[in-house]
Amino acid sequence: MSERQTVCVPQEEILKQKEFINSIKELNLGRLKKYSVTTFGCQMNENDSERLAGMLSDMGYTETESQKDSDVIIYNTCCVRENAELKVYGHLGALKRLKEERPEITIAVCGCMMQQKEVVEHIKRKYRHVDIIFGTHNLYKFPELLYGSLNSHDRIIDIWETTGAVAEGMPIQRKQGVKAFVTVMYGCNNYCSYCIVPYVRGRERSRSISDIVNEVSMLGQHGCKEVTLLGQNVNSFGKDAGQHLSFAKLLSEVNGVPGIERIRFMTSHPKDLTDELIYAIRDCDKVCPHLHLPVQSGSTRILNEMNRKYSKEHYLGLVEKVRSAIPEIAFTTDIIVGFPGETEEDFNETLDILERVRFDSAYTFLYSKRTGTPAAKNAVQIPEEVKKLRFERLVEVQNRISREINLSYMGTETEVLVEGLSKSSDAAFTGRTGTNKVVNFKGSSEMEGSVVTVKIEEVHTWSLEGKVIR
Ligand code: SAH
Ligand code: SF4
Ligand code: F3S
Repeated sequence: MSERQTVCVPQEEILKQKEFINSIKELNLGRLKKYSVTTFGCQMNENDSERLAGMLSDMGYTETESQKDSDVIIYNTCCVRENAELKVYGHLGALKRLKEERPEITIAVCGCMMQQKEVVEHIKRKYRHVDIIFGTHNLYKFPELLYGSLNSHDRIIDIWETTGAVAEGMPIQRKQGVKAFVTVMYGCNNYCSYCIVPYVRGRERSRSISDIVNEVSMLGQHGCKEVTLLGQNVNSFGKDAGQHLSFAKLLSEVNGVPGIERIRFMTSHPKDLTDELIYAIRDCDKVCPHLHLPVQSGSTRILNEMNRKYSKEHYLGLVEKVRSAIPEIAFTTDIIVGFPGETEEDFNETLDILERVRFDSAYTFLYSKRTGTPAAKNAVQIPEEVKKLRFERLVEVQNRISREINLSYMGTETEVLVEGLSKSSDAAFTGRTGTNKVVNFKGSSEMEGSVVTVKIEEVHTWSLEGKVIR
């Protein structure tokens, strides 16, 4: 039986892009050229921005925070909820003046929003100062598109509708030294009825285990201590590529990479959480005791409408099974409030599941109607005021629970991987526990990248504070 292997972009194509990188580098020689990339979406979007940064840096551009000083400005967009899209339009409008003052700059937009025809049409009509529009499947082609734009006055639009092959071997420049995202699979096959991601990211494509392990090994050699393996549903890793290797197997392979001390992953779909994966989390010493397991709703009726393929009881059963295997595990989740047809009883089921599971934290979202998804056609859309009131009630319950869980850390000694200076205070350093809690403490830059023991002395809803004792 022949099985499909991971389909990669041919190496000739990658080499061609590297030639464009070199050609632009020659153009930039002796000039101080700058770029800025703004990310609007999820970790995967962030990881794509790191690839753009890698390409730009190899072309001789340096990063700047200030768009005013940039020669290349890129917006990497998200369309998972309407407010993510509105933000992009706001920013794009504001760039018009800058382009008038400095017509020589290049403005590019890419990412998930661009995989929707009506968005591209809208940008073409309303934002004529945009020079390059490209999508999620041809990100690796950015050097060619930029080269084309630098050498002509025409606007360049390149969107692929079909699912692209996996591009290996292009440069990447990561934001952080201590922690890194590694995308292990692209796309999603699940079609949750509210979600636009399968339409803009295409079908599931897994990278090969050897490419992933090589990337993680390089990271380990360069001082990275923690990797987060990314995919829309990592539990179906490998199923598309005939690798006979599950995500659990991938975890155990990555667990063996020298230098890496912590492994995280997201996201796991509850319908595919296997016993094998639960045991891998338990048995691989570097895999952190934290599981992000989006529940979306506590009502089995709504879960059916969402096409999630599990019930409230099944989810609760999973939580129990995981906790009995790994008692110290922390659960986090995603919840949508105000899905079409959600009644007060349905919403109460969601509050109930919060109380039963006691998540460490929950990302809570107001349902946002996404054109093209089945749920958008549902006649019973919930009024905004009702959604907002439910949202507030939900957040109140979750905040109380998060705080209560954090209080249980008071006085304990906990291991923290030091990431660097804290954003909130110049004096404080920040890091995370294995259970993914943010901990702030007084430290020094030599601690960066090492695991220290912190005695917790103060507790907040979102973070902990303490003193380094070892
Ligand atoms: N593949 C991941 C993440 C998908 S996007 C997963 O399945 O969990 C991240 C979160 O955004 C989802 O978990 C969901 O809670 C939320 N989301 C997706 N579409 C949405 C919509 N139309 N309105 C509101 N929230 C949405
Ligand atoms: Fe969207 Fe569902 Fe796929 Fe997650 S699993 S990306 S929520 S369709
Ligand atoms: Fe991520 Fe948003 Fe795209 S959540 S996959 S950037 S639509």
